[in-house]
Order: sequence, then structure tokens, then C-alpha cells
Amino acid sequence: MAQDFSRFFKPGRVHRQIYTDPAIFEVEMRHIFGAAWVYVGHESQVKNPGDYFATYLGRKPVVMVRDAAGKLHVIHNQCAHRGAMVVATDKGSADEFTCCYHGWTYHLDGRLKAVPLNHGYPGDFNLNNPAVAMTAVPRVRSYRGFVFASEAADGPSLEESLGHMATSLDDMVDRAPDGEIEAAGGVFRHAYDANWKIYFENLCDAAHPLFTHRSSIEAAQQQSDAVHSDGFGEIAIRQMRQNGAPYSFWESQVGIWTYPNGHSYLGDYHDDSKLVAAMKDPVFREYIAALEKKKGKAETKRILEVRRWNSNIYPNVSLMSQFQQLRVVQPISVNRTVVHTYNFRLKGAPEQMFRNTIAFANIVNGTGSLVLTDDLEIYNRIDLGLSSEGTEWLQIGRGYQSDQPDRYDGRRGVNSTSEVYIRNMLEAWLCYMNGNHPEPARAAS
Ligand code: FES
Ligand SMILES: [Fe+2]
Repeated sequence: MAQDFSRFFKPGRVHRQIYTDPAIFEVEMRHIFGAAWVYVGHESQVKNPGDYFATYLGRKPVVMVRDAAGKLHVIHNQCAHRGAMVVATDKGSADEFTCCYHGWTYHLDGRLKAVPLNHGYPGDFNLNNPAVAMTAVPRVRSYRGFVFASEAADGPSLEESLGHMATSLDDMVDRAPDGEIEAAGGVFRHAYDANWKIYFENLCDAAHPLFTHRSSIEAAQQQSDAVHSDGFGEIAIRQMRQNGAPYSFWESQVGIWTYPNGHSYLGDYHDDSKLVAAMKDPVFREYIAALEKKKGKAETKRILEVRRWNSNIYPNVSLMSQFQQLRVVQPISVNRTVVHTYNFRLKGAPEQMFRNTIAFANIVNGTGSLVLTDDLEIYNRIDLGLSSEGTEWLQIGRGYQSDQPDRYDGRRGVNSTSEVYIRNMLEAWLCYMNGNHPEPARAAS
């Protein structure tokens, strides 16, 4: 009989067990990562026919690949013979996939193409039988170049599932003067010893920087304005100083928005005049000119006024559209998670803009990042803290009962320190875990 996971919730509280129980993690892999629209990759990672990108759907190795006709597929990375993983490199280009164990060879869409010693199999052995293919993930859909896949053969469409959150993906692309972005600059990967849900629950947490990131905030505050005129230092120091904004700032200037199916974003945190010194920066001025030339002044103004910090698309991708950065969460086990960070080049923008993107990525996601190291320590401390089995029920109630409706079927927190985004993700979690697709969100209008 199906379990009812609502026993892990009380108003404004969640039971610690959902972050530590390996049996619950197993259900998450089937009911969430095996059903929801899960982010797979970006079309620019498989630009040409034959290009492939090996990744994961939850814990499952899969391959995103563009076939000879240009069609996108996501196939399970498993040989139909004895089960070996077929594609062992992260990315590349191929005419076909050949398993390194006994040489079974597959078309790019996963259909079996050739089998050594074919004559040894029974007479009804048929290369076209789907049972001997690298099985396709049933639903694959791209939204403005962002590729998602779902193991559920039916259910809400990707657009229904994204609802108003599609506008964060729009913002990522709209910022490119030529209307196109491309993944570039490789990938940062970091791993931590704690549950995957903790990561998303931190990305919109406006109440933690003052404590968690205090050391880098204080160092930035002590810097004289005169000594950081190069782009990298300037972005770092501005970012660290902004992290040190007082509670009154978080509670008045910044907002948190949530939408059906677990999605949310922190808005109005960063504006370009604060962080990029944009209005004086010649590179940014050149960028604005390029944008205005292609899109006109009014549309450029609209685009630059979209000020979203982290946009979290449940269950596994978070974007920072203003900095052309995207992070993918890969659950490994109940207390082991890997996060992959990708950066994007805005086509038609000055090349220095991309250098700023990489500088920013180093500041917040590089191995020497002063911010990331603090957060990774916190994730691990959460796992260690939960293992002490002290308080059973964790608090997620800040702002509870003060939520305000949003016109796109969502809920706003009373201010950015509201924990509404955690409650919203856990509502989607409960829906998936109880075996239901969350309600389709209303499409963006
Ligand atoms: S397992 Fe792949 S060919 Fe045998
Ligand atoms: Fe942080």
C-alpha cells in the first residue's frame, strides 16, 4: 500500500527524518526524480548532429544526444546486453555508441544497430525490438534551449509544470542581444555530505549570510574602495559587502516569490548599479548599447529591470539569470550530493561580459570561493546535527500565515526572510512522494 508522507509534517514544522532516512531517499528517487520534469542540460552542449552529453536523471546515468536529423533524445546509459554503461565520457561527438564490453552498437537514438555473433541468438532476435535498445526516457522537452526530461509517460507538460517560473528561463535568454546563449567555460563541481534538499533550501535563505558569511563580509567591509579597481576584485568585494546588508534591508527591499510545483525565486536582491557598478562600467555600457540596438530601448529597460537572484526550478536546477549561471543538483545518496555549475555566454554581448560571468562564478562557486566554503560547512553541519537525534521537528514556520497571494498562482513571502519557499518545496515534495503529480501551474501570461 502506498505510504502517506504527510505524517512528516505539522504546521510550520517538518520531521528531521526526511533528510536522513535512506528508505525515504529511495522513494524520492522513484517518485520525484522518476516522475517530475528534471533538468538535463542545455541545447548548446549538443549543438551539432552526433554531439552528446552524459549526465544523470537523479541517480540514473543518461545521455542527451542530437541524432543525425538534429532531433534531441535522452536515453538510458545502459547496454541492453549485460547492462554495462555505454557512454563513459562526459561529452563528445559520435556516429554511433559502441559498448566496450562485447561491442553491441547503438544508433544515436538508442536503437540497436549491430551485434557481434548475431547468428548465435535465437531466430526471433530482432535488432528493432525496443527491449534491446538503450531505452529512451519517455518525455523530453526543450524550453528556449533548456532541456528537461521526465520518466513519467504522461502528466503535466513541461510548460504547465514550469508555469510562471518559465519567466526566469526567459530572463536568462532575453539578456543576450542576439537572443541566444551558449554553455561555455567548463563546469565547477562540488560535493557535500548532506541531503540534496538542503541545497535548494539554502539558495533563497536571506537570513543566513550575516552569520554564515560573516568572515568574508567583514574582510570586504575593511577594504578601501581604492584598492579593487580590477573587475574581479570589484565584483567580489561588492558581493561580500552586499551579503552584509542588515535585516532591515532583507525585510524591506528583497522579496521571495513561490510558485506551484516547488519553484521559487529571491528577487530584488541585486541590482546592477550596486554590484556591477554598471552605470559607470564601459563594458556594461557597451552591452546595453548592443542590447538596445537589437531589442530597442523599451525592451532593454524591461530586461534590465528583471532582478532575480536565485531562481529554483524544482527539483534540480537553479539559475542566476543576471550572472548567466546555472547549477544542477545531483543526489548521490541520502547524505551525499554533487552540484554542477555551468556558465553561459550571451551571444552578441562584449566578450568581457563573459569574463565577468566567469569572475563571478569563481567568487561564488570556485574551489577557492569564500562563500561556497562557508555554505558547504553548513550543509555538513546540518547532517551532523541531525545525526545527534535531538529535536525531532525542525522549524520552517518563519512568515507562516503571513504569505500573500501572487497573481500567477503563487505565494509571496511577507518579506525575503520568510521560509515560505521551503514550505512550498516541501508541499511539492509531499505531493510527489504520495504518488501524485502536483497541480499544473497556470502558464505565464
Ligand atoms: S554488456 Fe554491452 S555488449 Fe555486452
Ligand atoms: Fe550562503
